[in-house]
Amino acid sequence: MKQVKERRDDQTASDEEREDEQDLRQINIGLLGLGTVGTGVFRLIEQHQDDLQKQTGCKISVQKILIQNVAKERHIHVDEHLLTTDPNELIKDPDIDVIVEVMGGISNTKTYIAQALNEKKHVVTANKDLIALHGGELLTLASENECDLFYEASVAGGIPILRALVEGFSSDRVTKIIGILNGTTNYMLSKMSKDGLEYEDCLKQAQNLGYAEADPTSDVEGLDAARKIAILGTLGFHTELSLEEVDVRGISSVSKKDIDYGKEFGYELKLLATADRKNNEIELEVQPTFIPKTHPLAHVNDAFNAVFVQGEAMGETMFYGPGAGELPTATAVTSDLVTVVKNIKLGVNGRGTVAPYRLKKFKRKDNRYHRYFIRLIVEDEPGVLAVITQSLAQQNISVSKMVQKHYKEQQAEIVIITHEAAQQSFENWEKEMNLYSEKIEFASYYAVEGDDSR
Ligand SMILES: NC(=O)c1ccc[n+]([C@@H]2O[C@H](COP(=O)([O-])OP(=O)(O)OC[C@H]3O[C@@H](n4cnc5c(N)ncnc54)[C@H](OP(=O)(O)O)[C@@H]3O)[C@@H](O)[C@H]2O)c1
Repeated sequence: MKQVKERRDDQTASDEEREDEQDLRQINIGLLGLGTVGTGVFRLIEQHQDDLQKQTGCKISVQKILIQNVAKERHIHVDEHLLTTDPNELIKDPDIDVIVEVMGGISNTKTYIAQALNEKKHVVTANKDLIALHGGELLTLASENECDLFYEASVAGGIPILRALVEGFSSDRVTKIIGILNGTTNYMLSKMSKDGLEYEDCLKQAQNLGYAEADPTSDVEGLDAARKIAILGTLGFHTELSLEEVDVRGISSVSKKDIDYGKEFGYELKLLATADRKNNEIELEVQPTFIPKTHPLAHVNDAFNAVFVQGEAMGETMFYGPGAGELPTATAVTSDLVTVVKNIKLGVNGRGTVAPYRLKKFKRKDNRYHRYFIRLIVEDEPGVLAVITQSLAQQNISVSKMVQKHYKEQQAEIVIITHEAAQQSFENWEKEMNLYSEKIEFASYYAVEGDDSR
């Protein structure tokens, strides 16, 4: 008897659930792209539909997917009627509420997103290249059309760092953001450090494993990280910053020897992307940088990403996680989608974005301070060291540590770690050393982040 009653209760509950489901509003999605990230988004929407419905009160349904090659074999079962090669079937379809852009590229994609916003469709994108170049313009268009435009997945894949900056730090003033934002270069530098490999061997390994592209320029020359720090700086400092305003230096000239010397001083070499704001003046840069092994960023290895944020009130916080990959990136995209759907239910789309409101002023080189690691190969004869140190003193650069080792016949290798010095002074000193190029070869230099007392 009790069993029958329980069965009846179950029956009633599932009938109620079915009725609830029928009452749910359906939000229709147009997916631009079904590659690595698109496949992940499609999977999450299908597999997590129950949770998504409970959180948003809406049924989320992918109605059309734009691809370029219909004959391509897919790693996921998708009803073939959903696939199209005609963008208008998504962008012009009045039944589609949200466009999720995960196809990449700039020119076509910008056109599609602009058209979608003008059609009053909300947009979620994972496209850092597009946002770094045209984010300001597209956000204005979104706001004019009372639409949402979210791009959490464009920086540090699965780490919810944009939301943390916009919401978590809204009551604070962010003074510094330091990121390890490119998985490929972090993988390569970790390998060089751990396995003692040279740059070229690491690059080949990264390419074989699919971490690095056949043309790795964007990653190894720091452009990918530069795009991402421009996005983080814009949100963190409420100031519109662009890729061209980032000073960029990549890792292609890093040698195993530099990494080994750094280790002797207790440092690890990382490609750091930094946005710094002091006295309302901003500094934006990407460069290979030595950090003390005691700094939490020194322990971010392989293809992982991390973002270290300093706030005036908060102090230091660090976010760590996968910077790419199908499901981590798809999680960020789908979370943005959840926010869009919640906003649709509340009728508040396009009202959450705060346009950058602070004036933009950059630090001059005589007001940018770094510690430096310098490696020189010099003639091993009296007077050479004096030339180096006197010239450093003239530029007001003081030495924190120094080692000299035999290099080869009649030559020595000198590594100097300086205290904080103005970038302008360092560049003046470098120029002066070039006057002595017969006796002093400037082999390499890197910035050093933080002090050694951490
Ligand atoms: N992969 C990651 O881990 C990751 C992480 C963070 C951000 N992102 C960003 O996410 C976006 C997508 O990356 P992904 O790795 O998923 O790329 P992907 O694997 O190359 O997939 C691209 C998809 O878009 C379609 N597509 C490309 N160009 C098209 C065009 N002109 N017209 C129609 N369809 C087109 C492709 O169609 P076919 O399938 O027919 O070729 C494919 O389905 C990029 O902006 C990327 O920067 C990726």
